[in-house]
Amino acid sequence: MGRPRGGDPMTRWAGPWPTDGIAYGADYNPEQWPEEVWADDVALMRQAGVNLVSLGIFSWGQLEPEEGRFEFGWLDRIVDLLHEAGIGVDLATPSAAPPVWLHLAHPEMLPVDADGLRYTHGSRESWCVSSPVIREHATRIARVVAERYGHHPAVRMWHVSNEFACHNGRCYCDVSAAAFRDWLAARYADIDALNLAWGTAFWGQRYASFEQVLPPRRTTTISNPGQTLDFDRFSSDAFVDHLEAEAAVLREVTPHLPVTTNYMVMGDFHQIDYTTTTPLLDIVSNDHYLKADDPRGWAELAFSADRLRGLAGGDPWLLMEHSTSAVNWQPRNLAKEPGEMLRNSLQHVARGADGVLFFQWRQSRAGAEKYHSGMVPHAGADSDRFREVVGLGATLGRLAEVRGSVVEKARVALLWDTQAWWATDLEAHPTVDLHYLDLARRLHGALLDAGVVVDVLPATSDLDGYDVVLVPTLYLAPTDLSDRLAAVVAHGGHVLVSYFSGIVDESDRVLLGGYPGAFRDLLGVRVEEFAPLRENGTVRLSDGATGEVWTERFTAADAEVLATYTDGPAAGGPAITRRTVDGGGAAWYLSTRLDGPALAALVGRVVDAAGVAPVVEQPGGLEVVRRTGESGRWLFALNHTDADLPLQAVGVDLVGGGTHGRGDLVPARGVVVLREGA
Ligand code: GLA
Repeated sequence: MGRPRGGDPMTRWAGPWPTDGIAYGADYNPEQWPEEVWADDVALMRQAGVNLVSLGIFSWGQLEPEEGRFEFGWLDRIVDLLHEAGIGVDLATPSAAPPVWLHLAHPEMLPVDADGLRYTHGSRESWCVSSPVIREHATRIARVVAERYGHHPAVRMWHVSNEFACHNGRCYCDVSAAAFRDWLAARYADIDALNLAWGTAFWGQRYASFEQVLPPRRTTTISNPGQTLDFDRFSSDAFVDHLEAEAAVLREVTPHLPVTTNYMVMGDFHQIDYTTTTPLLDIVSNDHYLKADDPRGWAELAFSADRLRGLAGGDPWLLMEHSTSAVNWQPRNLAKEPGEMLRNSLQHVARGADGVLFFQWRQSRAGAEKYHSGMVPHAGADSDRFREVVGLGATLGRLAEVRGSVVEKARVALLWDTQAWWATDLEAHPTVDLHYLDLARRLHGALLDAGVVVDVLPATSDLDGYDVVLVPTLYLAPTDLSDRLAAVVAHGGHVLVSYFSGIVDESDRVLLGGYPGAFRDLLGVRVEEFAPLRENGTVRLSDGATGEVWTERFTAADAEVLATYTDGPAAGGPAITRRTVDGGGAAWYLSTRLDGPALAALVGRVVDAAGVAPVVEQPGGLEVVRRTGESGRWLFALNHTDADLPLQAVGVDLVGGGTHGRGDLVPARGVVVLREGA
């Protein structure tokens, strides 16, 4: 079975948003500082316009120095101090960092890696998610915290734990093994159903009972892929169970408060299938950190924010963490340029965030993250960084009216899926050069450059109302997706499916009869053989484009051939096809990774065919997104280039002040937010 996916994105939060305007603040860790600093902290927060801080995330060791002995005084005082200053508290349950005494009493709760090595305490998230010990103690301390602080007027929201599965995503210990077996027994009921699903006839891996099954620990060569995929599902479900257990305590004690937890929809993190968690949350939150040396980092930020909005069902969400400047965990931690922090922040808001928070308020003096930037740097408040922080707070204050509006619904959807990602990651595939989300990012980037807004949706989402649906490398597709895509095409829409999509069933068994088994009829093609390229190899297409990484030998009996391969392993055969149906809709198939300009041209053709236009006509490098709400429309324009660029829109600029006329310039690396139609 496993946890249900998709469906309603979440229980809509009917109560108030935690702040009046856009939320602004940070993780606040006063326990790292002598109390004399706190008054200064709160005064500086007021100066910066901070209205929400996440408190207590790593404070369990301070709150409960010995089992059952609590030291609440410090937290009482800081919560009161914040309240007096009008600053709201996003109070954390502290399970991300259990106290040393708990580890010493229960070393069996430490996670074990695939090699059988047990971790030791001394960092954070050092627990096995299947451990009954952490579950019991995490829910116990959650109750203690909720009962003591949940009715304090400063407390606006719950922050459950922190970045679930960031460091402890997979545990291979004996407790996990037993829980995995229980999960499998619930999913398959009968061991022969498991044998069939996992294809255990291969290499004689047949199991006689669930008791014989282990997690996919280190073995001699390739593990059973069905086992690994189910272990991913099981591990993700275990975190969701843990979230549900903590959230249940909070809801029981404080039903008036919304519950969130900070996701990591960024980069390559994919330890949890978040579609199974959104129904448990009232507000969806995300942490996002730029890869400092990525010159297209802003495009990755946009992709992350769009994925988050898709998970939130289009509702406003919270940016729970990002950085004011450098982080401390990349090989080279580059400081942000002046203006970059503002641009990053407003880019998240443009794409649906109703809050901009940082890790962390005051840069730590000691400990693992002392070289990670904060809102108040080591240099103190007399610094350009803090002056920018104050400026950002003032800007967000002027954007208060945007809160509650939503990003205008896109006509283009791009699908992604964590389970497809896990399956794509499995060993012994046709090439090591194909990476999940690689093509999704390229397609998203092409639309971004063309100024076309796209909803990046979980593959289980409702597709009604979309004119274009892009399906990049969705190796394992939900079983009903083909029907949902066919409905889009039947209504005159355009669907673009790429190579290595719809190849296997949910147990990673190939759908036979020619690839892509899930989409053959929809696309009118039949792939007989994959033909990946040599390292850095390329092929030419008849339309002049270059293909990279992957080609296929296939026939297009029921589709028009738009381009063929002129060389390479599939020379002479089709490369790009289109099956048009009555009513004008079409299903396009792309069998190779096109070079950048060729991919942009193909995407342009597909969106043109569907009659989809950019938000406004714009030069490349100017990102434009519109939010709409009951009280108005706001156009966000972010200039990611070193030249001033014209914006063809009219309105009052809430960032710089004044009126923006059609064609007026957005300064190089600058941002304008126009209140339109006023
Ligand atoms: C994560 C964590 C924070 C902090 C930051 C540093 O987002 O949630 O506690 O470690 O990373 O970038």
